Amino acid sequence: MSMCSSSSSSSSSSAKLWIVHGIVAGAAIAAAFGARAYLGRSGKFRSRVVGIIPARFASSRFEGKPLVQILGKPMIQRTWERAKLATTLDRIVVATDDEKIAECCRGFGAEVIMTSESCRNGTERCNEALGKLEKKYDVVVNIQGDEPLIEPEIIDGIVKALQASPDAVFSTAVTSLKPEDAFDPNRVKCVVDNRGYAIYFSRGLIPYNKSGKVNPQFPYLLHLGIQSYDAKFLKIYPELKPTPLQLEEDLEQLKVLENGYKMKVIKVDHEAHGVDIPEDVEKIETLMREQNLS
Ligand SMILES: *[C@@H]1O[C@H](CO)[C@@H](O)[C@H](O)[C@H]1NC(C)=O
Ligand SMILES: *[C@@H]1O[C@H](CO)[C@@H](O)[C@H](O)[C@H]1NC(C)=O
Repeated sequence: MSMCSSSSSSSSSSAKLWIVHGIVAGAAIAAAFGARAYLGRSGKFRSRVVGIIPARFASSRFEGKPLVQILGKPMIQRTWERAKLATTLDRIVVATDDEKIAECCRGFGAEVIMTSESCRNGTERCNEALGKLEKKYDVVVNIQGDEPLIEPEIIDGIVKALQASPDAVFSTAVTSLKPEDAFDPNRVKCVVDNRGYAIYFSRGLIPYNKSGKVNPQFPYLLHLGIQSYDAKFLKIYPELKPTPLQLEEDLEQLKVLENGYKMKVIKVDHEAHGVDIPEDVEKIETLMREQNLS
């Protein structure tokens, strides 16, 4: 018997993209810089897209997390089913170092790529998996397995943003920050420029009001874990040396900005329901019952 049981799937995809900055500006830049030269056979920039769900068994805070049952279905399966609904992904693979996770995923129909235990994090695991795929891809979406309610529209949103912004190598999503999360260092804040490119990410509250308090009028942004990369950039990303701000904030994505690369950010309407510790499972189940998700 496989590790996981299955039940019928349902999806409630209610995320509205409230702003997708700069798609038009990005397209204009593509034309201006002759990005046509890079267009694939489909005639679309960065057209071949693979979604990778990195999943490891060992975890300091939550052993075996990808296999935890959420309303009767393993968390990894829920993430995968959401990703399947995205229209921009040509292929979805689970990248894991663990046979139990692999067996479970094959059981519900996912394609699995085995990666080594030495991958230090999800980005490295995505990169290793990308190298093992026999086909070439232009864009890699790193779909974290700990957000089982990720809306497919968010996946599509970051892919389209990267396709429309040839000067960016990376794209990611933010949503409105709740005032009670303002001073929680586990909630990463982000500020963007007026074309939707990331200026900075911080565990502290940014921007910082001189009153020292949360300004109820300011639209603070919370970073969501999902990200997509240009495949060529993903190959060099792990090799870039750690940078001072990255080390100080313990935020991997700062390395991208500190090296002068551009990162496109889309704003979405999303309630973050990350599962980081065992206690989060009950919270997410309660919420799903309330919203009639099964
Ligand atoms: C700071 O926050 C207050 C509200 O708490 C707001 O009225 C003010 O405009 C903000 N900015 C500055 C520079 O004080
Ligand atoms: C995670 O991966 C990135 C990119 O591959 C790398 O730069 C970073 O140092 C890694 N972080 C840790 C904590 O190993």
